[in-house]
Amino acid sequence: MNKDNKKYNRVLVTTALPYANGPVHIGHLAGVYIPADIYTRYLRLKHIDVILIGGSDEHGVPITIKARNEGVTPQDIVDRYHKIIKESFEELGISFDIYSRTTSDIHKEMASNFFRTLYDKGEFVEKTSMQLYDEQANQFLADRYVVGTCPHCGNDGAYGDQCEKCGTSLAATDLINPHSTITGSVPVLRETKHWYLPLDKWEPKLRKWILEDHKEWKTNVYGQCKSWLDMGLQPRAVSRDLNWGVPVPVEGAEGKVLYVWFDAPIGYISNTKELLPDSWEKYWKEPDSKIVHFIGKDNIVFHCIVFPSMLMADGSYQLPENVPANEFLNLEGDKISTSRNWAVWLHEYLKDFPGKQDVLRYVLTANAPETKDNDFTWRDFQARNNNELVAILGNFINRVLVLTHKYYNGVIPAQGDASKYSDIIAEFASVKDELENYIENYRFRDALREAMNLARIGNKFLADTEPWKLIKTNPDQVETIMNIALQISANLAIAFEPFLPFMALKLKNILNLPQNVSWDNLGSIDILPHGHVINQPQLLFEKIEDSEIDAQIQRLQRIKKENELTNFRPQVIAPTIDFSEFEKIDMRVGTIKECAKVPKADKLLFFKIDDGTGTERTIVSGIAKYYNPEDLVGKQICFVANLAPRKLKGIESQGMILSAQNPDGSLIVIGPQCPVQPGSQVK
Ligand code: MF3
Ligand code: ZN
Repeated sequence: MNKDNKKYNRVLVTTALPYANGPVHIGHLAGVYIPADIYTRYLRLKHIDVILIGGSDEHGVPITIKARNEGVTPQDIVDRYHKIIKESFEELGISFDIYSRTTSDIHKEMASNFFRTLYDKGEFVEKTSMQLYDEQANQFLADRYVVGTCPHCGNDGAYGDQCEKCGTSLAATDLINPHSTITGSVPVLRETKHWYLPLDKWEPKLRKWILEDHKEWKTNVYGQCKSWLDMGLQPRAVSRDLNWGVPVPVEGAEGKVLYVWFDAPIGYISNTKELLPDSWEKYWKEPDSKIVHFIGKDNIVFHCIVFPSMLMADGSYQLPENVPANEFLNLEGDKISTSRNWAVWLHEYLKDFPGKQDVLRYVLTANAPETKDNDFTWRDFQARNNNELVAILGNFINRVLVLTHKYYNGVIPAQGDASKYSDIIAEFASVKDELENYIENYRFRDALREAMNLARIGNKFLADTEPWKLIKTNPDQVETIMNIALQISANLAIAFEPFLPFMALKLKNILNLPQNVSWDNLGSIDILPHGHVINQPQLLFEKIEDSEIDAQIQRLQRIKKENELTNFRPQVIAPTIDFSEFEKIDMRVGTIKECAKVPKADKLLFFKIDDGTGTERTIVSGIAKYYNPEDLVGKQICFVANLAPRKLKGIESQGMILSAQNPDGSLIVIGPQCPVQPGSQVK
């Protein structure tokens, strides 16, 4: 049964615990934290008992790999990033009731006890098997310590626990051509013992719970679950041979820790307990609680199959009511990647755009990857700020505030007879129902658009009624118009509160909104009483200039260059040829006498070369994108002199200029290090 339509008394909202191996970026925000924050803020405004749980995921191989690369301890890594992540979330206004970490004592105890309970109930299968082992690093390889080819989709960058391309969850031994990410070596098989959670045991219950009882889940989530269930579930190892993690709490398990995907989701429970030591169980165990997990699409299997199986094996927990997973956000057309530094990092954004938290919240919600992958571009960011926040919302509010001070010294005029404007009033009376309906169905983009629509209605209202013209001839009617415009402004302060909390607070303060005004008043035209005094206007948003955006785009271009250089691998050497074959190629030095662009061909340059024969030689070369023709005149280059002539754009090219190719595809012409006679042979 769908609890959304049933009475529940409290809501537990969780957000995927980000790995503390790097800062958070816009992909995390758009996919998980901003939607979860909107949802939670909304429920609080509705006076619903709700808590928002977050924390850092501090175990697992991503952490130990980073530590190894930097030559520091895993604890150093998680301390560094936990602090950055926690502080930047706070500054963005993600209103966690608690943001803790999986290295906390409470968590270690909770995870340990959880395992022990299942162990004592006989819920695990103990199995000795052959696992991948790196003989150079002297350690077993699992999860991200091993990459290979995915047996399902052929992706050759699949990890030992999951293929990120097709989303399938894997065991390291499933990989084709595995190799160690520590040493690059090919692993051998070695025997080891582990505990497995038999997911197959829970398959019938999972099928009923998801496929029959939760048909309302987002289609991307439901679809992924269905395809896994249809493939059939298998027992899954929940322990690892590693020294970073929660120790397996049974005898004979020295050197073994809990698998990070076993311990991390228990972090939701531990953090709830840390927040509410006496009442945490109510949120997790009472049937009148509603649990919602906000995650990205790569986490679906763990939250819909693995964690629920753990909870069912324990037997005392409620299952989540919904798992509104989002798709991915790309950045300027490329997949966001922590290791390639291809991201907009939250802590850097906050430094580069101080006071503009709501702009990022707005853009990432308006462009959220709710049903498909989406792209973030800096130009779109700028346009949404300048054309929507400044030009629509900010402009409307500013006009209303300024006119109210100009005409009435900041005192709300009487509403008088508003019946003339009943169309407008009816339009925004419906906004509350629409917003609620969208938010409760996890459609935050649509909800935000509705809120913005209210500002559009306001702008249109002012443009249609033109109070600045009417003020001389019909001041009574202007009082009514301005009263309605002020009521719309108050409605905006309420409607935007879940989305843009900083702007909403500022606007509430300017409007001096009475304390008791809340979400329930949304849609009303009697929020600000006649005679109520408002404060001085302040701008809510400011224009973002091209120079600020250019700086961000240049930063990304620099990173792209750096990545191309670090990822450069020379082409495989071509098959061997005989000396006699090489000798057939006649290469010479020439001096460039003339150089110009070939008309109607953006890649081609046309050259006249002094090749020492006394008659100038024409060559056409595809390097126009990388050189100014004037800069080349007088330079010496090497060219192939006996290549059969070819026509390019109607010009006969008598040879080929030699160039070296950079990783980004750009070309650099090759010439002698110091002047030589034109026509000299190159050997
Ligand atoms: N750290 C994981 C990731 O970034 C998410 C963990 S979610 C939890 O993909 F449920 F395990 F906490
Ligand atoms: Zn795959």
